[in-house]
Amino acid sequence: MPGVAAVVLAAGLGKRMKSKLPKVLHQVGGQPMVQHVLDALNTAGIGDAVLVIGHGADLVKEVLGPAFSYARQEQQLGTGHAVMQAEGSIGADCNTVMVVCGDTPLLRGETLRMLLERHRESQAAATVLSAVFPEPTGYGRIIRDQSGNLDRIVEEKDAAPDEKRINEGNTGTYCFDREQLFSALSQVMPNNVQGEYYLTDVLKILRERGKKVQAVALAEAEEALGINSRRQLAEVDGIIRERVRERLMEEGVSIVDPRTTYIDAGVMIEPDTVIYPFTFIEGKSVIGSDCRIGPFTRVVDSRIGKGTVVRNSVMLESEVGENCDIGPFSYLRPLTRLSDKVKVGDFVEIKKSTVGRGSKIPHLSYVGDATLGEGVNIGAGTITCNYDGVNKYPTVVEDGAFIGSNTNLVAPVTIGANAVTGAGSTITKDVPEGSLAVERAPQKNIPQWKTRVKPDKQ
Ligand code: UD1
Ligand code: CA
Repeated sequence: MPGVAAVVLAAGLGKRMKSKLPKVLHQVGGQPMVQHVLDALNTAGIGDAVLVIGHGADLVKEVLGPAFSYARQEQQLGTGHAVMQAEGSIGADCNTVMVVCGDTPLLRGETLRMLLERHRESQAAATVLSAVFPEPTGYGRIIRDQSGNLDRIVEEKDAAPDEKRINEGNTGTYCFDREQLFSALSQVMPNNVQGEYYLTDVLKILRERGKKVQAVALAEAEEALGINSRRQLAEVDGIIRERVRERLMEEGVSIVDPRTTYIDAGVMIEPDTVIYPFTFIEGKSVIGSDCRIGPFTRVVDSRIGKGTVVRNSVMLESEVGENCDIGPFSYLRPLTRLSDKVKVGDFVEIKKSTVGRGSKIPHLSYVGDATLGEGVNIGAGTITCNYDGVNKYPTVVEDGAFIGSNTNLVAPVTIGANAVTGAGSTITKDVPEGSLAVERAPQKNIPQWKTRVKPDKQ
């Protein structure tokens, strides 16, 4: 949105988290809490954001990437001080500044847009988003005058007992006129219990200057929940996941048991897919329509084509085609690529391999660093021996090949199209197209064996 910049406060350590990780990088709904704030700003059409970073600054920058500007706050002297650090990074054409805390990930984009609209309509110098909290402890309280207008905000630690009884709290989200904000900030003093430069003091300063300041109350206080502790982290995570499930169900996805289904905020699922209980779908996974996923399944950063069934399995950074049949007890590790109509059965592990259309790996196999063509059948217990303890080598199985049960494919090795390997063979040499390769000592039957080995047992 032209003329508007956001300042996201993300420099604090978050002492109450008792963590070495900066608070804003703790995850809710499968992504860092501050990422949700940035997503909401984006939904509101405010793409221009300056992040104020301090604690773990390099890590925060690394995780969030180069799409934003960053301003450093070397010492965390308070929220007012934090905003001051961003002044030089705000675009010259932005005369409205929205300030959002990095620890309030439930705020919706629509709410931020509403706040901005109310701010613009009223032509106020400052508009703060407030909410009526059932349990306001910890929030700055909104003090209104007799006519109901915003007078000032008092922090919990500085509040008198009667002020603490006020339920309307500061969500930590504001819109400011740029010039008014920075000129008022230069007058903020750290004369409070915490010895900090409070951003909230700007409202009082502006009001004393005769400028218009206002508080706009949020309908649903839950949206403003700030994360300060691990308990709140878990609470907010639960709320985000509930929102995700509700969105998906709204869009036509069946979730058999929402309470035992965990889906990250970045996941996309097409309609008419059914998610069975005790299933985790994480990261940036994308699942097509008409799939059945679960029960007891974990899908991480993977793509699954339409009509595929995945039961009791784990899938990491993999791509699975349409109408595949996976599990139970399959383990697809990173860089697995399955084409359409592939079957992967019980106790099969696949890593960094490509499997062609209609191929089957039904039981008890390890397939690593391999390329399998179309219509290949891998017999039970077959493994690729891809690693000699130093290097990894490729295995190629061409179209239509039939690998007998319990074959060891010692890589590098190629099995030609329509070739067959005899059960129990250890294949160390390439097998030409259409050939049978048997590598097995002929069977010897030694008579009277039982009598010979255990004569005393007769
Ligand atoms: C702040 C507000 C309070 C509001 C609450 C809402 C002030 C003085 N108080 O209190 O009125 O109800 O948020 O959640 O503004 N931060 C910095 N640099 C600093 C201090 C903080 O970047 O020097 C960042 C933190 O990383 C965090 C955000 O600002 O993301 C809020 O800081 P926090 O210490 O949690 O403030 P609260 O005490 O919750
Ligand atoms: Ca907070």
